[in-house]
Amino acid sequence: MNYRAFFELQREPFCADIAHKEILVTAGLKGVEDRIRYAIRLGSIALITGEIGSGKSTALRYVAGLFHPSEYRVINITASSGSILELYRQILNELGIDMTGISRAVMTRQIKQEILELVLGKKMKAVLVIDEASLLRLDVFAELHTLTQFESDSKPFLPVVLAGQANLIDNLRYRNSMPLASRIVGKCHLQGVNKKGMEEYLAHHLSIAGMERNIFEEAAMTAIHQGSGGLFRKANHLARGAIIVAAKHKSAMVSSEHVRIAATEIF
Ligand SMILES: Nc1ncnc2c1ncn2[C@@H]1O[C@H](COP(=O)(O)OP(=O)(O)OP(=O)(O)O)[C@@H](O)[C@H]1O
Ligand SMILES: [Mg+2]
Repeated sequence: MNYRAFFELQREPFCADIAHKEILVTAGLKGVEDRIRYAIRLGSIALITGEIGSGKSTALRYVAGLFHPSEYRVINITASSGSILELYRQILNELGIDMTGISRAVMTRQIKQEILELVLGKKMKAVLVIDEASLLRLDVFAELHTLTQFESDSKPFLPVVLAGQANLIDNLRYRNSMPLASRIVGKCHLQGVNKKGMEEYLAHHLSIAGMERNIFEEAAMTAIHQGSGGLFRKANHLARGAIIVAAKHKSAMVSSEHVRIAATEIF
């Protein structure tokens, strides 16, 4: 009998592809929402950093999902280490603009025109969300500042959300990044959750998989919390791995020993 049948789980537990309504609204997530709403109101920049697997991308998805598409145009980009042209291409692609054979100057003009049309024409709020922004090259930060400046009007039409690992902050301290960095009005850093936060997280993911009772012994939850440093992705791997080990041993409860065995398989 496999582990899902053994624990009568309706779906793969602790999976990555959870629906918007299944996202656990943590204090960290609320903090991200507040910063993003504030930056949008001011037409400025919000900076979201966090450890690997702490839930940054999920937080961005959560907040974007709160914005009604009739009112907001969220331009979602996952950054690469490419040049500014690559970033422009991604933005144009998201905006659904055909860009075959157009030059760099035309690209920026097209993007700005589209933003002005959204904001002034359609009376919408546009926001550029760049995940993995810690990968962006330094020269791209300087260009990005130019892109978000609208000469015709001093009003900032394109608020930006930058999310990435902590070195994003170091990259923003360089001289070339300063104009962009000076527009940051809200920062938050997602950390590992505390023990209580982890217990809630584990119960939440169990219930997503259709399990309403707790199958983790107290010591197992402590082991997952310590082993993951409170970080969600690592906790997923440990929890799922421990469930598999427990099922193999035909144990109705997951123990700290099961977590220990699972930990030997993950990085
Ligand atoms: N609020 C949440 N509710 C439920 N599950 C979550 C939440 N946040 C994160 N997770 C889980 O943790 C996993 C990792 O989260 P996510 O990919 O958002 O982290 P990240 O910080 O963007 O990671 P990376 O540093 O690799 O970009 C998700 O796939 C999801 O399973
Ligand atoms: Mg991510």
